[in-house]
Amino acid sequence: MADIVKIFDTTLRDGEQSPGASMNSEEKIQIAKQLEKLGVDIIEAGFAAASPGDFDAIRRISEVIKESTVCSLARALEGDIRAAGEAIAPARHKRIHTFIATSPIHMEYKLRMAPEQVIERAVQAVRYAREFVDDVEFSCEDAGRSEMEFLKEIIDAVIEAGASTINIPDTVGYRFPHEMGEMIKELKEFIGERAVISVHCHNDLGLAVANSLYSVLNGARQVECTINGLGERAGNAAMEEIVMAIKTRRDIFGEIDTRINTKEIYPTSRLVAAITGIEPQPNKAIVGKNAFAHESGIHQDGVLKHQQTYEIMRAEDIGLDRNAIVLGKHSGRHAFKRRVQELGFDLDEGELKRAFERFKLLADKKKEITDDDIRMLITSELSSAPEVFKLKKLQINDCSEGVPSAAVTIEHEGREITDAGIGDGTIDAIFKTIDRVSGYKGRLKDYQVTAVSQGKDALAKVVVKVVFEEGREAVIGHGLSIDTMIASAKAYVSALNSYLSMKALLQGERGDSGKESI
Ligand code: KIV
Ligand code: ZN
Repeated sequence: MADIVKIFDTTLRDGEQSPGASMNSEEKIQIAKQLEKLGVDIIEAGFAAASPGDFDAIRRISEVIKESTVCSLARALEGDIRAAGEAIAPARHKRIHTFIATSPIHMEYKLRMAPEQVIERAVQAVRYAREFVDDVEFSCEDAGRSEMEFLKEIIDAVIEAGASTINIPDTVGYRFPHEMGEMIKELKEFIGERAVISVHCHNDLGLAVANSLYSVLNGARQVECTINGLGERAGNAAMEEIVMAIKTRRDIFGEIDTRINTKEIYPTSRLVAAITGIEPQPNKAIVGKNAFAHESGIHQDGVLKHQQTYEIMRAEDIGLDRNAIVLGKHSGRHAFKRRVQELGFDLDEGELKRAFERFKLLADKKKEITDDDIRMLITSELSSAPEVFKLKKLQINDCSEGVPSAAVTIEHEGREITDAGIGDGTIDAIFKTIDRVSGYKGRLKDYQVTAVSQGKDALAKVVVKVVFEEGREAVIGHGLSIDTMIASAKAYVSALNSYLSMKALLQGERGDSGKESI
């Protein structure tokens, strides 16, 4: 019998806290479905009290996910716990994850609470969470810098109150693997079988995966991690690295295993990269573009003679299909539909029809359509924001001698509006002209462009972050085209549509003023 380590994925919550990684509800649902296919035990779908958008995404994920447990984060506050409980209510398997800081520095300066008050609050939070669900996880935030005796005291109290998973986060990525291992060993001796010990490691010193693995070797039976190691600052522990390390080093881990279907690792990584616009670095372990590429002649020769000369894992084991069929101009609807399904997308007839039309348009311009192109074609249209404004035409004049200018046609309420303007550069001219046409003035905070595939006909994906109203959170927009300028214009218009949709949502039921951060 395998000794299972539960995989708790927090790509949709801690991962989303990566700068530029905000996702809309539709995008989160696609990722959640893929995480379920990957075999993740628990999906942390968000932080319900943070914003109406987060609440909506968690609720909708709870309605569609059947195998994995759906979890919402909640501070140790009544309002947060109630929002979490309501958001996950439709889920078949549900969990509330509540937390409070336990390190001296956090308690004194952030919470301004005495240690006894922190324990009291934690106990109340767990008891209240148990009114909504049986499965409650409690996290000692900044446990990596907390005192062992205090940790034991609070852990005792929350287990007594009904928590069945105790999470030990190294919130600031401070610990070294041997220290993390010693801490988990001592806590395992203390907790015994009363609760599952979980770890949640951040990567500030590049040790998140090593710290998670040492924790597993010392008794942790849940690891919290993200796809591609996404997450705030230097990110969280990368799931693919943890899972493949356990699978590859059976000599070290023995009976310890996970329930992850490793063949879904690569497709999941690509989906998350396509949706967030954040590409893993090329030399990233397991899922980087070069992770299984051999450049030097000596290595190539060795691998051809015997694969294991330079490879400790097989590309097929992570679902990297080096011979993937490439679609093209002559591929029909059936071939396209099959590939879309194989890539893990669950589209209704209308969505499939629209995606196929976009595929045909692209195939006219691009000889080979890769899996990444298809993922982009689908995910770039995944928006819950209605298209209040729609880009119809773009014409630019970026001659190096003259003043950059752009002419833009936008459809709004059934009418086409055209205008032209100038700017400090071509992109600036495009965005300023869209501002004039729409009547909304945006301030660009971030602009990223990525080539989806290789070659001169590669698709360009543009992600912009724009503030349309001072004091409000920046919104994200995505645009995709073979032409970078058109992708930029689409991204800017999509950000404007997201802003209008968010504004409508906020003015609706709750009247919240913006997204709270933890
Ligand atoms: O890093 C951290 O401490 C967290 C907690 C909320 C679990 O993300
Ligand atoms: Zn975290």
